[in-house]
Amino acid sequence: MTINRKIQTLDEFTIQQLRNFPNATGELSGLLRDIGLAAKRVNVEVNKAGLVDILGDAGSMNVQGEEVKKLDVYANDQFAGVLRHGISCAGIASEELDDILVFDDEISNNSKYVCLLDPLDGSSNIDVNVAIGTIFSVLPRLSPKGSPVNTADFLQQGIKQIAAGYVIYGSSTLLVYATRRGVNGFTLDPSIGEFTLSHPNMQCPPAGKIYSVNHGNYFQYQTGIQQYITACQEKNAATGGPYTQRYIGSMVSDIHRNLIKGGIFMYPAIAGRPEGKLRLLYECNPFAFILEIAGGKATNGRQRTLEIQPTSVHDRTPFFIGSTEMMEELDKYISAG
Ligand code: AHG
Repeated sequence: MTINRKIQTLDEFTIQQLRNFPNATGELSGLLRDIGLAAKRVNVEVNKAGLVDILGDAGSMNVQGEEVKKLDVYANDQFAGVLRHGISCAGIASEELDDILVFDDEISNNSKYVCLLDPLDGSSNIDVNVAIGTIFSVLPRLSPKGSPVNTADFLQQGIKQIAAGYVIYGSSTLLVYATRRGVNGFTLDPSIGEFTLSHPNMQCPPAGKIYSVNHGNYFQYQTGIQQYITACQEKNAATGGPYTQRYIGSMVSDIHRNLIKGGIFMYPAIAGRPEGKLRLLYECNPFAFILEIAGGKATNGRQRTLEIQPTSVHDRTPFFIGSTEMMEELDKYISAG
């Protein structure tokens, strides 16, 4: 068997990045390694979801009032477990938990970071074998080292993120993460059980031809957004329209595709839900950070997502994200609508 010396694993990559910063402590590399480990464990269970009795409702509702699947619980436990036992994370906030989880022990009270997670996004797609994902965000602690972290450590604007990323459990399993230095994607190589660099320096094309939105909610959207959607469907030499509509209902997959191919993803306010469906801290901020680093844009229709001040860990927000030129076009319709 020949060994491919060109491959670079997630661990090798993060350690190589670390070497560029002589004063770095390695805590972020450790945290990313922990997330990679939990993702591999979740991946094993996702892959056999159709085979074993882990598939199905856990019989409870999460704090958002949504049905919890067994795999959500499993994923939450895995990420919480590895981060608790690592040295880099002082506590987590998770879409699956009512309150923040503080790792109140001597090591964690001195850890630099807190982590915010949607352990298994798109879980309503599990039953039908559609790609699902994990989304994560890393913030620096605000409270002094030596003490347990508290809610204020988690309620920071997205611009404060140190890193953010996602894992797709799809036709292959991919971990993408961003720091201010760039966005890089790693595909899980099952033969060696390692995430290996497959998508270096990811860039979101400035324009695209894909728009992703739940058309079933069309009549609940504000006029400007309806008009933009109509424009996406029209022949237009300037924009290259009509665009193609693609909506999986699993934002990790939808935004990942648009990041690679160019496009726009929208989850606007709907009737009875002026803040939309998606969670600011677990879903929107991480993707806004990743897309901005990759050259794209993300807003709530009025304001840059990364500048929204959260008021609670479970805040929701309307969300528009994608290729810069498409986002600028959308802005014009929202302003005029
Ligand atoms: P869930 O985890 O409950 O399946 O929600 C998934 C999220 C997001 O990933 C997706 O883009 C959006 O909800 C889809 O919502 P709609 O079905 O309302 O379009």
